Amino acid sequence: MRPFYQSERATIYQGDALPVLRALPDNSVDAVIADPPYCSGGASTATRTNNSARSKYVSTNAKHNLASFSGDQRDQRSFTYWCTLWLGESLRLTNPGGVCLVFTDWRQLPSVSDALQAAGWVWRGLVVWHKPGARPSRGRFTNAAEYVVWGSHGDLASRELYLPGFYSVTTPRGNARTHITQKPLTLLRHLVNITAPGATVLDPFLGSGTTGEAAILDGRKFVGVELSEQFAEQAAARIAAAEQIVSGRTEGGSS
Ligand SMILES: C[S@@+](CC[C@H](N)C(=O)[O-])C[C@H]1O[C@@H](n2cnc3c(N)ncnc32)[C@H](O)[C@@H]1O
Repeated sequence: MRPFYQSERATIYQGDALPVLRALPDNSVDAVIADPPYCSGGASTATRTNNSARSKYVSTNAKHNLASFSGDQRDQRSFTYWCTLWLGESLRLTNPGGVCLVFTDWRQLPSVSDALQAAGWVWRGLVVWHKPGARPSRGRFTNAAEYVVWGSHGDLASRELYLPGFYSVTTPRGNARTHITQKPLTLLRHLVNITAPGATVLDPFLGSGTTGEAAILDGRKFVGVELSEQFAEQAAARIAAAEQIVSGRTEGGSS
Protein backbone atom coordinates (compact mmCIF):
# COMPACT_ATOMS: atom_id res chain seq x y z
CA MET A 1 0.00 0.00 0.00
CA ARG A 2 1.57 3.29 -1.07
CA PRO A 3 1.49 6.09 1.52
CA PHE A 4 0.15 9.49 0.50
CA TYR A 5 2.79 11.07 2.77
CA GLN A 6 5.75 9.51 4.49
CA SER A 7 8.42 10.96 6.73
CA GLU A 8 10.61 9.79 9.60
CA ARG A 9 7.84 10.29 12.15
CA ALA A 10 4.57 10.15 10.19
CA THR A 11 2.73 8.12 7.55
CA ILE A 12 -0.56 9.12 5.93
CA TYR A 13 -2.71 6.89 3.72
CA GLN A 14 -5.45 8.32 1.54
CA GLY A 15 -8.39 5.94 1.25
CA ASP A 16 -11.24 4.24 3.06
CA ALA A 17 -10.16 3.54 6.66
CA LEU A 18 -11.45 -0.03 6.82
CA PRO A 19 -9.44 -1.58 3.94
CA VAL A 20 -6.41 0.56 4.86
CA LEU A 21 -6.48 -0.63 8.48
CA ARG A 22 -6.91 -4.23 7.27
CA ALA A 23 -3.65 -3.90 5.33
CA LEU A 24 -1.58 -2.69 8.31
CA PRO A 25 0.40 -5.13 10.52
CA ASP A 26 -0.65 -6.48 13.96
CA ASN A 27 0.63 -4.62 17.03
CA SER A 28 2.04 -1.72 15.02
CA VAL A 29 0.62 1.20 17.08
CA ASP A 30 0.25 2.09 20.77
CA ALA A 31 -2.91 4.19 20.64
CA VAL A 32 -5.88 4.98 18.41
CA ILE A 33 -7.35 8.48 18.61
CA ALA A 34 -10.31 8.62 16.25
CA ASP A 35 -12.74 11.35 15.27
CA PRO A 36 -15.04 9.49 12.85
CA PRO A 37 -17.99 11.04 11.01
CA TYR A 38 -20.55 11.26 13.86
CA CYS A 39 -23.54 10.34 11.65
CA SER A 40 -25.51 12.58 13.99
CA GLY A 41 -27.38 15.87 13.59
CA GLY A 42 -31.16 16.00 13.43
CA ALA A 43 -33.83 14.34 15.55
CA SER A 44 -34.91 11.67 13.06
CA THR A 45 -33.26 9.01 10.91
CA ALA A 46 -34.38 10.96 7.85
CA THR A 47 -32.50 14.13 8.79
CA ARG A 48 -29.41 12.20 9.83
CA THR A 49 -29.21 10.11 6.67
CA ASN A 50 -30.41 12.57 4.00
CA ASN A 51 -28.49 15.72 4.89
CA SER A 52 -24.83 16.49 4.16
CA ALA A 53 -22.32 16.88 6.98
CA ARG A 54 -22.14 20.60 6.22
CA SER A 55 -25.89 21.10 6.40
CA LYS A 56 -26.00 19.18 9.72
CA TYR A 57 -23.01 20.71 11.51
CA VAL A 58 -22.64 24.24 10.09
CA SER A 59 -25.19 26.92 10.94
CA THR A 60 -26.97 28.52 7.99
CA ASN A 61 -25.53 31.97 8.78
CA ALA A 62 -21.89 30.73 8.88
CA LYS A 63 -19.54 33.05 6.99
CA HIS A 64 -17.09 30.39 5.80
CA ASN A 65 -17.13 28.19 2.74
CA LEU A 66 -15.43 25.10 4.18
CA ALA A 67 -16.05 21.82 2.34
CA SER A 68 -18.45 19.11 3.49
CA PHE A 69 -17.20 15.51 3.93
CA SER A 70 -18.63 12.10 3.14
CA GLY A 71 -19.45 9.11 5.33
CA ASP A 72 -21.82 10.96 7.66
CA GLN A 73 -25.14 9.48 6.49
CA ARG A 74 -25.18 6.05 8.13
CA ASP A 75 -28.32 5.21 10.08
CA GLN A 76 -28.04 4.10 13.73
CA ARG A 77 -27.63 0.37 13.11
CA SER A 78 -25.15 0.66 10.26
CA PHE A 79 -23.15 3.31 12.16
CA THR A 80 -22.79 0.97 15.17
CA TYR A 81 -21.89 -1.99 12.93
CA TRP A 82 -19.37 0.04 10.93
CA CYS A 83 -17.74 1.38 14.11
CA THR A 84 -17.44 -2.19 15.40
CA LEU A 85 -15.61 -3.19 12.21
CA TRP A 86 -12.98 -0.41 12.24
CA LEU A 87 -12.62 -0.58 16.03
CA GLY A 88 -11.98 -4.34 15.71
CA GLU A 89 -9.23 -3.73 13.15
CA SER A 90 -7.85 -0.97 15.39
CA LEU A 91 -7.62 -3.43 18.30
CA ARG A 92 -5.60 -5.85 16.17
CA LEU A 93 -3.21 -3.02 15.24
CA THR A 94 -2.74 -1.86 18.84
CA ASN A 95 -0.19 -3.34 21.22
CA PRO A 96 -1.69 -4.96 24.37
CA GLY A 97 -1.93 -2.28 27.08
CA GLY A 98 -2.54 0.40 24.44
CA VAL A 99 -5.57 2.68 24.34
CA CYS A 100 -8.38 3.75 22.03
CA LEU A 101 -10.10 7.17 22.24
CA VAL A 102 -13.17 7.89 20.09
CA PHE A 103 -14.89 11.26 19.78
CA THR A 104 -18.68 11.34 19.74
CA ASP A 105 -21.68 13.48 20.71
CA TRP A 106 -24.55 12.86 23.15
CA ARG A 107 -26.71 11.27 20.46
CA GLN A 108 -24.21 8.63 19.35
CA LEU A 109 -22.63 7.97 22.75
CA PRO A 110 -24.51 4.67 23.34
CA SER A 111 -23.59 3.39 19.86
CA VAL A 112 -19.91 4.22 20.26
CA SER A 113 -19.59 2.65 23.73
CA ASP A 114 -21.41 -0.48 22.44
CA ALA A 115 -19.18 -0.69 19.37
CA LEU A 116 -15.97 -0.18 21.37
CA GLN A 117 -16.85 -3.11 23.62
CA ALA A 118 -18.21 -5.29 20.80
CA ALA A 119 -14.87 -4.81 19.02
CA GLY A 120 -13.06 -6.24 22.06
CA TRP A 121 -11.74 -3.12 23.82
CA VAL A 122 -12.12 -2.83 27.61
CA TRP A 123 -14.25 0.28 28.12
CA ARG A 124 -12.54 2.54 30.67
CA GLY A 125 -14.68 5.66 30.73
CA LEU A 126 -15.58 9.00 29.17
CA VAL A 127 -13.63 12.21 28.84
CA VAL A 128 -15.80 15.32 28.59
CA TRP A 129 -14.86 18.07 26.15
CA HIS A 130 -16.70 21.19 27.29
CA LYS A 131 -17.13 23.84 24.55
CA PRO A 132 -17.44 27.25 26.26
CA GLY A 133 -18.76 28.97 23.10
CA ALA A 134 -21.68 26.55 22.52
CA ARG A 135 -24.83 28.34 21.35
CA PRO A 136 -27.72 28.27 23.88
CA SER A 137 -31.08 27.00 22.62
CA ARG A 138 -34.27 28.60 23.90
CA GLY A 139 -36.23 26.42 26.35
CA ARG A 140 -33.66 23.64 26.64
CA PHE A 141 -30.24 22.73 28.02
CA THR A 142 -27.33 23.83 25.85
CA ASN A 143 -25.46 20.96 24.21
CA ALA A 144 -22.16 22.34 25.40
CA ALA A 145 -20.09 19.15 25.40
CA GLU A 146 -18.78 16.38 23.22
CA TYR A 147 -17.30 13.15 24.57
CA VAL A 148 -14.33 10.88 24.18
CA VAL A 149 -15.21 7.23 24.81
CA TRP A 150 -12.03 5.45 25.75
CA GLY A 151 -10.80 1.95 26.42
CA SER A 152 -7.75 -0.26 26.50
CA HIS A 153 -6.47 -3.37 24.78
CA GLY A 154 -6.67 -5.64 27.82
CA ASP A 155 -5.03 -4.37 31.00
CA LEU A 156 -3.82 -0.77 30.80
CA ALA A 157 -0.08 -0.32 30.59
CA SER A 158 0.98 0.90 34.04
CA ARG A 159 2.28 4.49 34.14
CA GLU A 160 2.76 7.13 36.83
CA LEU A 161 0.15 9.38 35.18
CA TYR A 162 -2.85 11.40 36.41
CA LEU A 163 -4.99 13.11 33.75
CA PRO A 164 -8.20 15.13 34.13
CA GLY A 165 -11.47 13.71 32.80
CA PHE A 166 -12.74 17.11 31.68
CA TYR A 167 -11.30 19.73 29.32
CA SER A 168 -12.83 23.10 28.54
CA VAL A 169 -11.53 24.29 25.16
CA THR A 170 -13.15 26.47 22.49
CA THR A 171 -13.61 25.13 18.94
CA PRO A 172 -11.24 26.49 16.27
CA ARG A 173 -12.45 29.69 14.58
CA GLY A 174 -11.48 32.03 11.75
CA ASN A 175 -8.29 31.24 9.84
CA ALA A 176 -7.39 28.54 12.38
CA ARG A 177 -10.29 26.46 11.03
CA THR A 178 -9.94 24.56 7.75
CA HIS A 179 -12.39 21.68 8.35
CA ILE A 180 -16.03 21.96 9.43
CA THR A 181 -15.63 19.55 12.35
CA GLN A 182 -12.03 20.39 13.21
CA LYS A 183 -11.03 19.63 16.80
CA PRO A 184 -8.94 22.07 18.84
CA LEU A 185 -5.20 21.39 18.77
CA THR A 186 -4.94 22.14 22.51
CA LEU A 187 -7.48 19.43 23.27
CA LEU A 188 -5.65 16.83 21.18
CA ARG A 189 -2.36 17.77 22.82
CA HIS A 190 -3.96 17.04 26.20
CA LEU A 191 -5.34 13.71 24.99
CA VAL A 192 -2.06 12.54 23.46
CA ASN A 193 -0.62 12.59 27.01
CA ILE A 194 -2.35 9.25 27.65
CA THR A 195 0.45 7.70 25.53
CA ALA A 196 4.13 7.46 26.50
CA PRO A 197 6.62 9.74 24.71
CA GLY A 198 7.79 8.02 21.52
CA ALA A 199 4.54 6.02 21.20
CA THR A 200 2.86 5.57 17.80
CA VAL A 201 -0.63 7.10 17.50
CA LEU A 202 -3.12 6.09 14.79
CA ASP A 203 -6.01 8.30 13.61
CA PRO A 204 -8.18 6.54 10.98
CA PHE A 205 -10.19 9.73 10.15
CA LEU A 206 -7.63 12.48 9.84
CA GLY A 207 -9.70 15.38 8.51
CA SER A 208 -7.43 18.42 8.67
CA GLY A 209 -4.83 16.46 10.67
CA THR A 210 -5.25 17.84 14.21
CA THR A 211 -4.38 14.53 15.90
CA GLY A 212 -1.29 14.16 13.74
CA GLU A 213 -0.08 17.68 14.48
CA ALA A 214 -0.59 17.14 18.23
CA ALA A 215 1.15 13.75 18.19
CA ILE A 216 4.21 15.06 16.34
CA LEU A 217 4.49 18.26 18.41
CA ASP A 218 4.44 16.15 21.56
CA GLY A 219 7.12 13.67 20.50
CA ARG A 220 4.99 10.77 19.27
CA LYS A 221 5.02 8.98 15.92
CA PHE A 222 1.89 9.04 13.81
CA VAL A 223 -0.11 7.00 11.30
CA GLY A 224 -3.21 8.57 9.73
CA VAL A 225 -5.90 7.71 7.18
CA GLU A 226 -8.24 10.08 5.33
CA LEU A 227 -10.73 9.36 2.57
CA SER A 228 -10.66 12.75 0.88
CA GLU A 229 -7.60 13.82 -1.10
CA GLN A 230 -8.23 17.48 -0.24
CA PHE A 231 -8.16 16.77 3.52
CA ALA A 232 -5.25 14.33 3.21
CA GLU A 233 -3.28 17.19 1.62
CA GLN A 234 -4.25 19.59 4.42
CA ALA A 235 -3.27 17.05 7.05
CA ALA A 236 0.06 16.29 5.37
CA ALA A 237 0.90 20.02 5.29
CA ARG A 238 0.07 20.45 8.99
CA ILE A 239 2.06 17.37 9.96
CA ALA A 240 5.06 18.41 7.84
CA ALA A 241 5.02 21.85 9.50
CA ALA A 242 4.90 20.21 12.96
CA GLU A 243 7.83 18.01 12.00
CA GLN A 244 9.83 21.11 11.03
CA ILE A 245 9.14 22.60 14.46
CA VAL A 246 10.21 19.40 16.23
CA SER A 247 13.38 19.12 14.07
CA GLY A 248 14.19 22.77 14.90
CA ARG A 249 13.87 21.98 18.62
CA THR A 250 16.18 18.96 18.29
CA GLU A 251 18.79 20.97 16.34
CA GLY A 252 18.52 23.76 18.89
CA GLY A 253 19.24 21.25 21.66
CA SER A 254 15.89 21.52 23.52
CA SER A 255 13.52 18.53 23.89
C1 LIG B 1 -14.99 14.34 11.99
S1 LIG B 1 -13.91 14.54 10.65
C2 LIG B 1 -12.30 14.58 11.40
C3 LIG B 1 -11.87 15.97 11.77
C4 LIG B 1 -10.48 16.02 12.39
N1 LIG B 1 -10.45 15.44 13.70
C5 LIG B 1 -9.94 17.43 12.45
O1 LIG B 1 -9.63 17.92 13.54
O2 LIG B 1 -9.84 18.07 11.40
C6 LIG B 1 -14.01 12.98 9.91
C7 LIG B 1 -13.18 12.80 8.67
O3 LIG B 1 -13.29 11.43 8.24
C8 LIG B 1 -13.21 11.38 6.84
N2 LIG B 1 -13.83 10.11 6.41
C9 LIG B 1 -15.14 9.84 6.21
N3 LIG B 1 -15.30 8.55 5.90
C10 LIG B 1 -14.07 7.99 5.93
C11 LIG B 1 -13.58 6.67 5.70
N4 LIG B 1 -14.42 5.66 5.39
N5 LIG B 1 -12.26 6.44 5.79
C12 LIG B 1 -11.39 7.46 6.11
N6 LIG B 1 -11.80 8.73 6.32
C13 LIG B 1 -13.11 8.99 6.25
C14 LIG B 1 -13.95 12.62 6.37
O4 LIG B 1 -13.51 13.00 5.07
C15 LIG B 1 -13.60 13.64 7.46
O5 LIG B 1 -12.53 14.46 7.06
